[in-house]
Amino acid sequence: MKLVIKNINKLVQTEETTRKWVAGSDMKTINYLEDAFIEIENGLISNFGTMEQWNGIDDWNNTQIIDAEDGMVFPSYCDSHTHLVHASTREDEWIERIKGTSYKEIADNGGGILNSAKKLQETSFEDLLNQAKDRLKKVIQSGTGAIEIKSGYGLTLESELKILRVIKELKNSSPVTIKATLLAAHALPLEFKGRKDEYLDLIIDKLLPIVEQEGLADYIDIFCEEGYFSVSDLNRLLIAGKKHGLQAKTHVNQFTSLGGVKASVENGALSVDHLEIMSDQDMESLQGSSCMATFLPSCSFFLGIPYGPARELINKGLPLALASDYNPGSSPNWNMNLVTSLACIKMNLTPEEAINASTINSAYAMGISDKLGSIAIGKKANLFITKPMPSYGFMQYSFGENNIENIILNGKILNPNNE
Ligand code: NIG
Ligand code: FE
Repeated sequence: MKLVIKNINKLVQTEETTRKWVAGSDMKTINYLEDAFIEIENGLISNFGTMEQWNGIDDWNNTQIIDAEDGMVFPSYCDSHTHLVHASTREDEWIERIKGTSYKEIADNGGGILNSAKKLQETSFEDLLNQAKDRLKKVIQSGTGAIEIKSGYGLTLESELKILRVIKELKNSSPVTIKATLLAAHALPLEFKGRKDEYLDLIIDKLLPIVEQEGLADYIDIFCEEGYFSVSDLNRLLIAGKKHGLQAKTHVNQFTSLGGVKASVENGALSVDHLEIMSDQDMESLQGSSCMATFLPSCSFFLGIPYGPARELINKGLPLALASDYNPGSSPNWNMNLVTSLACIKMNLTPEEAINASTINSAYAMGISDKLGSIAIGKKANLFITKPMPSYGFMQYSFGENNIENIILNGKILNPNNE
């Protein structure tokens, strides 16, 4: 069955020649076609062009047509950093922060990641899976067509595996493209207090072999931060992860610059994420590397912390990606359109830069920019059709508004039940 979308006001983020990412001043440009069509066959983009170039329908019995009625078509957002599998929300801690207790104080008193871990350990696989499925439906409805999901709220062998097995089940049952990341080194569990090396031993000697054997993760992550894990912990874990076939995507520089960016790059990381605080040396170490700097503006917004020097990175000719960091403690937001709005409003990115950062570049940051992240022949047909809009930048400008009319995943129109 062929699917044709016609009368598209603007077909946005088209590529004649595919790129693995877009960097520096090239991020200012988005290619698009006006008054366009797109054809999809077997879940992949098979053709696109202007309505004038369209040859019409050759096989009426095997063609489904959607009239975009002057709406625009975008490639789905790729959200390259989330903690979608968690056991419950943490609005009680958020209210504490409103009243003046800091995020750090809450974590130091056993809240934060340890609070989420306790709840997750008490939650069954089925319950966790059902919660994750419900969240994923909302994620899909907001225009995301690929998502990376981390473990990290388990913090025991059993519970980290439970999360990764939930993610594996989501991979099998959901129409979105999913990548899984092992983040057992998210925080030191209470029972390992003063014995950090022993917790790392557990991850390296016990968890990693099972993860590899069951094919449970695509990437490995660590929270490199004061009070969490050091640069030498990062080196140790990433070297071990590599031996088990896992490339790194790291949490670095959220509150302090410890040297985790350089160490991640040296360990061949695919991305370094957060980067709210960056030294000149951190930026320097990204030059010439194949590591994608990833900013998480909804985390900055929710915690009231700095937004990170995205503008400076682009001005230095570097690429960058945007992701939601969807999690119950620092970013209870999954909406990538809001993320792009925040990047424009708070980080001075143009809509073009924000769209590049949340499509092709974030696809790179999850290892899929050859398959997703743009409108190109042969790429997966994960895209959305908007309501009529005055310009494509209206997506970022009209923050808080849902401009999405129709969602296509793997070349299929999403049914109302989102299944
Ligand atoms: O990416 N920074 C580390 N981890 C998560 C959130 C942790 C939490 O508060 O639950 C993040 O922001
Ligand atoms: Fe995170």
